Amino acid sequence: MMAMDLDALKRAAALKAVEFVRDGMVVGLGTGSTAKHMILALGEKVRAGMKLRCVPTSKETATLAREQGLTLIDADNAWVIDVAIDGADQVDPAFNLIKGGGGALLKEKIVAASAKQFIVLVDQTKRVPVLGGSFPLPIEVIPFGWGSTAREIEALTKSPVVLRERNGSPFHTEAGHVILDVHLARIDNPCELETALNLIPGVVETGLFVGRTDLLIVGTPNGVETYPATRA
Ligand code: 5RP
Repeated sequence: MMAMDLDALKRAAALKAVEFVRDGMVVGLGTGSTAKHMILALGEKVRAGMKLRCVPTSKETATLAREQGLTLIDADNAWVIDVAIDGADQVDPAFNLIKGGGGALLKEKIVAASAKQFIVLVDQTKRVPVLGGSFPLPIEVIPFGWGSTAREIEALTKSPVVLRERNGSPFHTEAGHVILDVHLARIDNPCELETALNLIPGVVETGLFVGRTDLLIVGTPNGVETYPATRA
């Protein structure tokens, strides 16, 4: 599918998502090209008189949100987020996610975890029968000893681990960490893997979002599909 068509699907999903945002809410703002459409749509609502307070998951999102006239909450506050809305890199049939393609996974997970409702927006190309394969799993780690953390991750997953770079240098997250991208052929048990990875010293957070999605909104060429998550 052409990039332009995909962008239209992302926008359609974002327009559906903002229907769930009500006056007076505290909204968690995700990061990425899909989340961008949602922020633009919220900007329109605020200019039309809706009152919102927002928690951004990256500097990029904060800048766009401010440009759109959204009010941001001080990041050091103990917020209660009514709804967080974010994109994803992959979604499996149980609505588990891989996130972190943009490197914002840590703040994204903190915001998703503290939201009463977590809405995930994707175009249909992000849906996969099983996580992994075409998209590596990002893991945020402390720079100190990252090589030995990578070895531990390699031993656990039996998969290649690559330090993410940007312009020839290690990519640093907003929290000053680095990202290891793990090329797993398939992730059959995301919950087990997330738990095991989090036990490795040096691992700050993984891009696996397991059992967190409350509502999945998918942009398809035939229209927008909305799926509430069913909890076991
Ligand atoms: C950033 C993310 C993004 O949500 C994810 O990469 C999807 O991005 P896009 O909407 O641009 O495809 O997790 O850390």
